[in-house]
Amino acid sequence: MSNKNIRALSERKGLSDNLFENISELSLKDAVKEEFHELADRFHLDDSVVLGTSSFYDFLKPGNRNKKVHVCNGTACMTAGTQKKLIKELENHFDADEIGHAACLGRCHSNSAFMFNDRTYSAKNDEELKEIFSKKEYFQENIYQTACNTTPVLTSQIDDLKDFYALAEEFSGKPQQIIDELKVSNLRGRGGAGFPFWFKLDAVIKEQNDQKYIVCNADEGDPGAYSDMYLMEHQPHKVLFGMYISGKCVGADTGVLYIRGEYPDSIRTVRKAIDELKSLQLINDFNFKIIRGQGAYVCGEETALLNSIEGLRPEVRVRPPYPAQEGLYGRPTVLSNVETFANINWILKNGGKAYKKLGTENSTGTKLVSLDSLFKKPGIYEIEMGTPLESVLNDFGGGFTSVVKALQIGGPLGGIVPLSKIKELTLDFESLQNNGFLLGHASFVSIPKDFPMIRFIEHLMKFTADESCGKCYPCRIGSFRGYEMLKKAQDENYKLDRRLFDDLLETLEIGSLCALGGGVPLPIKNALQYFKDELKEYFS
Ligand SMILES: Cc1cc2nc3c(=O)[nH]c(=O)nc-3n(C[C@H](O)[C@H](O)[C@H](O)COP(=O)(O)O)c2cc1C
Ligand code: SF4
Repeated sequence: MSNKNIRALSERKGLSDNLFENISELSLKDAVKEEFHELADRFHLDDSVVLGTSSFYDFLKPGNRNKKVHVCNGTACMTAGTQKKLIKELENHFDADEIGHAACLGRCHSNSAFMFNDRTYSAKNDEELKEIFSKKEYFQENIYQTACNTTPVLTSQIDDLKDFYALAEEFSGKPQQIIDELKVSNLRGRGGAGFPFWFKLDAVIKEQNDQKYIVCNADEGDPGAYSDMYLMEHQPHKVLFGMYISGKCVGADTGVLYIRGEYPDSIRTVRKAIDELKSLQLINDFNFKIIRGQGAYVCGEETALLNSIEGLRPEVRVRPPYPAQEGLYGRPTVLSNVETFANINWILKNGGKAYKKLGTENSTGTKLVSLDSLFKKPGIYEIEMGTPLESVLNDFGGGFTSVVKALQIGGPLGGIVPLSKIKELTLDFESLQNNGFLLGHASFVSIPKDFPMIRFIEHLMKFTADESCGKCYPCRIGSFRGYEMLKKAQDENYKLDRRLFDDLLETLEIGSLCALGGGVPLPIKNALQYFKDELKEYFS
C-alpha cells in the first residue's frame, strides 16, 4: 500500500477519529492482535500498517511501554552523571523490570529526571523519592530561572487576554498586511533551519485547496532544550495566537499542536489555554487539536511529524513537495516551531520595523536559550540576537559549578564548542554557522572536563542510530557502524582508522536524506578538531 493511499484512508476519519491516537491507545493498553486487526479493518488498512506504526515509538514498544517509571536518558542528565544513582535509588521503590527509559524530559536545569504517573520529576536522593511516592498525586513544580536582556518579546506577561486576541480583529481580512509586517520583521524559524516565516504564509495562501492546516511543531526533541516547554507551560496564548492569526491569514480553520509525550505538563497547560479560549469565546472560528507524541526524535523533522499525525510510520518524506504544498493529509500546511509562532503577536502589535531593531541584520529579534544544571543559574533566558556568548554564560548562567571543557550548543546535531572559542562568538545564526557550529534551538549542554570526549561522540552516534527513521541507508547503517567503531575503540584493543572514519562522516553528511544523518558529523568533526589530543589514543 503506498503512503498516498494510507494518507487518504487516514484522512477520511480525519483528526476527530485520528488513526495515530487510535494506534497509541491500543498499544498502551497492550491490546491483542485482533484489536489491531479491527482497527485496521475500520480504516480499510492492512494490519501491517498499524503494527508498523505501533512498533516505531519508544512509549509504545513492548519492551518500554507500561513501565511504571521512565528514567530520562537525555544528554544533560548523562553529562551531569546523575542517572545511575537515580536508577539505583528507584530500585528501592520498584522492581528493576518496572523501570523503563524516556528521552530528554526537559529537566536539564536540575537533572536526576524521571517520569511517573504522567508527571515529570527531579529527585536528588532517596528522601526526595520517598516524598514523591508517598502521596497519591504529588506535583513537583518545574522551577528554573528566567530573565531577559532586552525588550521582552517572549517572556513578557499578557495583561489582558481579550486585548491580546483582539489584535486579530485589526488584521481581519488583511492577509497581505500580516505577511508584509512579518517580512519586514525578518522573523526566521526557531526550529533550527532559520527559514523566513513570512514565506510559508505566502506559499500557502497561493495554494488553491478547500482545506488547509496550521501545524505547530512542539516535539522539542533536542536533549538539553526546554525553551518550547517554557513557552507552552508559561506563555501558551502566545503560541496559540500565532497559530490562529496564521490560520486567518492563509484561510485555515484548524491548528494542530504536536506535543511530545515527554512533556505531559505542557499538554495539560496548552489544553487548559484552549479551554479558556473557548469559555471566553475569544475565537469561535478556529479549532485546535493536540496530538501527543509517543517518543521518537525524528518526529521533530517536519515531514516525519506529518506522517506521525496521519498514523503512518514516521519516516521522512522526500521534498519537494514541501508542507506548504502537500502537508497534513496532503493539504497545504503552514508548519512551524513553537517559538516562531510565539513571536507573532508582538510583531503585529509593535510592527515589523520595531522587531527588526532587535538583534542583528540577518538574525532579528530575541532567542530563548536553555542552560543546563552545570551552570550556577540554570534556566531559560530571552537573549537579544547578537549578544556575546560570554555574556550569556556569565551574566545569565553565572558561570559553572565545576570545570567545563566544552558546550554542545543546539542539540545533538549542534556544534561542540570548546570553552576557548566562546569569546569569539555571538548568539545568532551567522556567528555560530560561520565558525563551524550551529544555533539550532540554542540549548547549552555542558561537557565537564572529566567527561571523556570519546564517550560523548559515541553517545551522539548511538543517539542517531537509535532515532534514525531508517529511510536512507547512510544514516540507518552508517550511524550504527559509527557507534560500533567508537564503542570498540574504548572497549577492545581496536584503533579507529582515521581515513575510514572520515569517509563514514562524509557519507553521512552528503548521502543522508534529512538533517539527522546529515547533521551528526558536524559535532563529531568539531570534537576531532578541538579535542585532537584527547582523542588521538583511539586512532591508529
Ligand atoms: C531530525 C530532526 C529533528 C527536528 N526536530 C525539531 C523539533 O523538535 N522542533 C522543531 O521545531 N523543529 C525540528 N526540526 C526542524 C523541522 O524539520 C522544521 O524545520 C521546523 O519545525 C520548521 O519550523 P520553523 O521554520 O519555525 O523553524 C527537526 C529537524 C530534523 C531533521
Ligand atoms: S537521515 Fe536518518 S532520519 Fe533522516 S531520512 Fe535518512 S534514515 Fe531517516
